[in-house]
Amino acid sequence: MAKVAFIGLGVMGYPMAGHLLKKGGHELTVYNRTFAKAEAWVKEYGAGKAARTPAEAAKGQDYVFCCVGNDDDLRSVTIAKDGAFEAVEKGAVFIDNTTASADVARELYATAKAKGFGFIDAPVSGGQAGAQNGVLTVMCGGEKATFDKAQPVISAYARAVNLIGAPGSGQLCKMVNQICIAGVVEGLAEGIHFAQKAGLDIPMVIDTISKGAAGSWQMDNRWKAMNEGKYDFGFAVNWMRKDLDIAIAEARKNGAHLPMSALVDQFYSEVQRLGGGRWDTCSLLARLNNQSADGKKG
Ligand SMILES: NC(=O)c1ccc[n+]([C@@H]2O[C@H](COP(=O)([O-])OP(=O)(O)OC[C@H]3O[C@@H](n4cnc5c(N)ncnc54)[C@H](OP(=O)(O)O)[C@@H]3O)[C@@H](O)[C@H]2O)c1
Repeated sequence: MAKVAFIGLGVMGYPMAGHLLKKGGHELTVYNRTFAKAEAWVKEYGAGKAARTPAEAAKGQDYVFCCVGNDDDLRSVTIAKDGAFEAVEKGAVFIDNTTASADVARELYATAKAKGFGFIDAPVSGGQAGAQNGVLTVMCGGEKATFDKAQPVISAYARAVNLIGAPGSGQLCKMVNQICIAGVVEGLAEGIHFAQKAGLDIPMVIDTISKGAAGSWQMDNRWKAMNEGKYDFGFAVNWMRKDLDIAIAEARKNGAHLPMSALVDQFYSEVQRLGGGRWDTCSLLARLNNQSADGKKG
């Protein structure tokens, strides 16, 4: 049992912190910008403490986890005033589950090293359901000795925890993950859109083709929501645009060509215009059906 803090109790962080308590058996302190959510977490789990600042949460802990929105949010809970980095103990490990740039991961790793504690960039895949069920895939970047120490603790909310390479590599791996997803979701949206226009029995079509070469995680887990036009859950379009932006910026530096990712990013900007910034990423179909936030189809 270790002393653990978790910063950022959003869609992902809230259940992940829960697994560290329940499955990991650790002693938890939680911080959330909107304090009421931290209080709700302590009430729901009947354990742990709610801290008022990231620094207060980080003080005296063996491990400090974090899952906030983007690079700026991450800087504000780490290196800004009252940020966690003011208080993380020497020898402790800071594990960042935010999907952010490789640059900010390297920057925070260097700052942590200078202060005498470890830093692992550890973005996750598996979505809201993966976080709730504690079966996320975690892609890590950092020093091997730090990873070896943190890996058993991270395992409380994961089914796979792999060290990809040097600091920043976890974020680079997550970029690969998002690049792969972008085209798959657009293909699935177009397939279901076509099947609807053709008047086919969609459950029968999916039941059939999901067992063949067209099958995918997105097909298994998202076809129903897409067919029903119900997008008010899951991994937000706003976050996916942030992720594609990070990947495209990195590609400009490393020389990779990402034409599909750039195109799908623009499709998502159309979903945002329909009012779907917080919709799940499978809402690419809403764009093809001209479906607006009130559910009406154009
Ligand atoms: N949702 C998914 O399916 C999924 C899957 C894989 C990866 N991710 C990644 O995981 C991260 C979190 O996603 P999420 O869906 O959990 O997001 P979310 O529900 O919007 O939660 C974001 C969390 O970050 C906090 N936060 C944001 N800006 C902050 C700031 N400047 N200072 C302090 N706290 C701040 C929020 O606090 P408040 O409560 O006060 O707003 C909230 O606790 C993102 O990087 C996302 O890309 C998400």
